[in-house]
Amino acid sequence: MKGFLLPCLATASLAVFPLGAQSIRDLAAERGLRFGAAVDPSHFSESLYSDTLAREFNQVEPENAMKFGPTHPGLNVYSFASADSIAAFAAAHGMALRGHTLVWHSNLPSWLTGATWTTAQLSNILQDHISTVVGHYKDQVFAWDVVNEAFNDNGTLRSTIWSNSPGIGLAGTAYIEQAFRWARAASPKAYLYYNDYNAESTGVKSDAVYAMAKDFKARGVPLDGIGMQMHLTSAAPNLTGIEANMRRLADLGLMIDITELDVRLTVNSSGIASDALLATEAQTYHDIVAVCLKIPLCRGVQTWGFTDKYSWVPGTYPGLGAALEFDAGYRPKPAYASMVGALSNTPPVLAAADLVSAASYGGGSVSPGEIVALFNTNPGPAALAVADFTDGRLPTSLSGVRLLFDGIAAPLLYTVTGQTAAIAPFFLAGRSTTQMQYEYKGIQSAAVTVAVSPVHPALFAANASGSGPGAILDLAYHPVTAANPARRGGYVILYATGAGLTSPLPGDGQLATDTASLSARATVTIGGVDCAVSYAGAAPGLVAGGAQVNVLVSAGVPSGEQPVVLTVGGVSSPASVTVFVE
Ligand code: XIL
Repeated sequence: MKGFLLPCLATASLAVFPLGAQSIRDLAAERGLRFGAAVDPSHFSESLYSDTLAREFNQVEPENAMKFGPTHPGLNVYSFASADSIAAFAAAHGMALRGHTLVWHSNLPSWLTGATWTTAQLSNILQDHISTVVGHYKDQVFAWDVVNEAFNDNGTLRSTIWSNSPGIGLAGTAYIEQAFRWARAASPKAYLYYNDYNAESTGVKSDAVYAMAKDFKARGVPLDGIGMQMHLTSAAPNLTGIEANMRRLADLGLMIDITELDVRLTVNSSGIASDALLATEAQTYHDIVAVCLKIPLCRGVQTWGFTDKYSWVPGTYPGLGAALEFDAGYRPKPAYASMVGALSNTPPVLAAADLVSAASYGGGSVSPGEIVALFNTNPGPAALAVADFTDGRLPTSLSGVRLLFDGIAAPLLYTVTGQTAAIAPFFLAGRSTTQMQYEYKGIQSAAVTVAVSPVHPALFAANASGSGPGAILDLAYHPVTAANPARRGGYVILYATGAGLTSPLPGDGQLATDTASLSARATVTIGGVDCAVSYAGAAPGLVAGGAQVNVLVSAGVPSGEQPVVLTVGGVSSPASVTVFVE
């Protein structure tokens, strides 16, 4: 059979491009990253264009179709057909749609630039433009480049029709602020970005963008992210400066997107660059993806086009081209493979604060046996993978994910990109800290130090939100609710985690099948009134580390929805979980 198949395989492999097992789109999704391309809908009818786009990208952005000129061809005249076709393509292929751009000095229609306007008239025109365009796409565009290229390279504000010539009547960055406020009013949920070039690394221009962003965040201006265009050349980017700039913006709580990545190269008259330049380009593509993966708030990488067949570079920079990751025949270039490498091999990034109680979502420390959730932007399977008890025990590896404490893999409950639930191992008892690492497909994060406490109690809420009515049963195992309230003199069963060790102590990740008492003393109050605990220990039917507490509702407990607090070893659960009392 093998001999028979081989010739077929050889023929088949000549017909297809040497793509890896997984598209960049899938690799990016596993890393919680949007991977996008600027597109021109006039090429959608070209099947290689559409097929490549849908296969390799999970985000699109109109290269021109949402700009002022195309969308607003006359005073009070709007035209959305072209941009709508991009929105339809995005929806049909499960891609995110970025909007670009509302306030820019370029691509303006002549009806606007050729007439004389008062600042009041211009203000009305811009408000109408933003409200109409953002409003039109409010259910489709998840993020807008609200303002584009408002700064000069020396950090001063660019003089434009919107800023000061004549402007909309607001000095300094106030006109930018106004644009963000109009955009927010038109779409309460779209993320709003400021986008610019030559402001990627540290320097006077990025300092100016940073200063504006800091001021906007301090005053509650609705700015959610910074777009870094990243139009690069064959010169190596200043990765240290880019990382430092991304970090300071992320420290303001802003998301970062690379919005217009391309690397323009010297090309011959056929538009072909040398192998050496293509290798340099590949390194740059790798490094930009890798630096984004180092910053949890860097959420997207987008290239300005994707095939050298259609790129703004040759027309804008004569003699330069070959700037994108697919060649003019849609074959992946070395830049493509290097991005695959970056997405596959860049270590995940962890923070101690990513680890929280699965019951309360409170962090700060972890206790032995605690059911924990790790929330982060780390890689993982794009589809939720849920563990089961094989031979009565949870696995310590699930769909390529492991969570290590002092080098030992913890039992896992489920994992998906950005979220993993695990059981902290019992051997943490007696330690004051642990070194936590996250691993996906064999690539480990650096270790972060997490504080260990003997207990970290929290009650499970019925809706798993960390607060509100508790996951509480009566003795008939019916949920205690407003319609089935707890009765004074009757028992309720609480479910918790972070209650520390039990005796006997089961194995890590084992299904608890029998009772086992907590080692530390447990007490409960309902509505502030002490209630007798008749059992506190392992929860048969749950994983070891889950706790069950049976409580006698005291005669003095008040009626209505009352806070329940579990105290173990002197540490109390958050008072955010409640129980209904008759
Ligand atoms: C460019 C397009 O690629 C061209 O087709 C068009 O003629 C001019 O605009 N920064 C931006 C983009 O924010 O909107 C620009 O796009 C490229 C530079």
